[in-house]
Amino acid sequence: MPYKPPIPNPYPGLPILNSSISHPETLVALSLSTTNSPDLNNAARRPRWQGLIEAYRPYLPVTATTPVVTLLEGNTPLIPVPAIAKLIGKGVQVYVKYDGLNPTGSFKDRGMTMAISKAKEAGAKAVICASTGNTSAAAAAYARRGGMRAFVVIPEGYVALGKLAQALMYGAEVLSIKGNFDRALDIVREMAQTYPVTLVNSINPYRLEGQKTAAFEVVDDLGNAPDWLCIPVGNAGNITAYWMGFCQYHQENKCDRLPRMMGFQASGASPLITGQPVMHPETVATAIRIGNPANWERAIAVQQASQGKFRDVTDAEILEAYRLLASQEGVFCEPASAASVAGLLKVKDEVPAEATVVCVLTGNGLKDPDNAIEHSNNPLKPGIEPTIEAVAEVMGF
Ligand SMILES: Cc1ncc(COP(=O)(O)O)c(C=O)c1O
Repeated sequence: MPYKPPIPNPYPGLPILNSSISHPETLVALSLSTTNSPDLNNAARRPRWQGLIEAYRPYLPVTATTPVVTLLEGNTPLIPVPAIAKLIGKGVQVYVKYDGLNPTGSFKDRGMTMAISKAKEAGAKAVICASTGNTSAAAAAYARRGGMRAFVVIPEGYVALGKLAQALMYGAEVLSIKGNFDRALDIVREMAQTYPVTLVNSINPYRLEGQKTAAFEVVDDLGNAPDWLCIPVGNAGNITAYWMGFCQYHQENKCDRLPRMMGFQASGASPLITGQPVMHPETVATAIRIGNPANWERAIAVQQASQGKFRDVTDAEILEAYRLLASQEGVFCEPASAASVAGLLKVKDEVPAEATVVCVLTGNGLKDPDNAIEHSNNPLKPGIEPTIEAVAEVMGF
């Protein structure tokens, strides 16, 4: 018998794990790496992500003296969604840009790191925004981190539970009005003209500057712009920002084409499709329950320049895509975000063969637990006796 030296335990203090024993080569590799430590100072370190302002500084209106307020937002994954691609067929590749993985759980963090950094640079002591929820969470987190007061005006009864919890926890002063988002926006616009508060809705130009970095990331990941970009549209800031990002990267030769911008609104809040403001917008997707988009003209300009389209999707279609994304792809977004996938599926016959499509998932599903529980179509199995037999029986074994 040749002599075999004893293998040291790679996890001192823990018993040797079965998983390591069944892969002894891993055990040896692990033990070597722990025993023969290389000179730590020379060890190659993965560069740390420092937030989108640092990552894309040359493309953003910041200077060396801008005080960067960051939670290391951005760098969100572009996830392939094969089950959705299969529903389209034709060799089409579909990805979701999962911006729900930003620090406060939505794409708003991209714009807010810029808006709050610039507000701080200008000496602002307080910021204000109207919000369907996500802007208030992001404004609150970044403003408080930057040492400012955050006032958020929300439509009473129409803000998802998680978003309200965030705004309160982050320390915003939450003002709930008996009116809808459009009225809240009118109010904060006027307030910012009269009182010493900086407006941080997407009409603040720095918001869109930050948000355009999502398009940079998509191109950096794919190596080019996609053929189509599908995106939910409410106030139309994000669709404008993505287009800015793609155009800027195109001018810098980072991509050799521009995508068709496909904007999707909820049928009950679809002014860009009907061509008229909607006085009483209604949809399960509260984040895009907006009847009079602040960036209306810009959105039309983007659609025309990109030869894109605006289409509406019903609440039933939004909820179907919402369930599909979570249950078939493992990606849990909020209902408004699922409008991008619902829209893609609605116009799937128009997608060119072999196209690359990116759907933007703007917010995290955990923001809206009420809708998730109500619409999952997956009932909880309650009241089971705490025995192996009872559990197995319910499992069908
Ligand atoms: C989750 C989510 N998706 C989409 C949107 C719409 O973005 P925009 O208003 O920039 O069109 C919002 C806006 O609040 C949102 O919170």
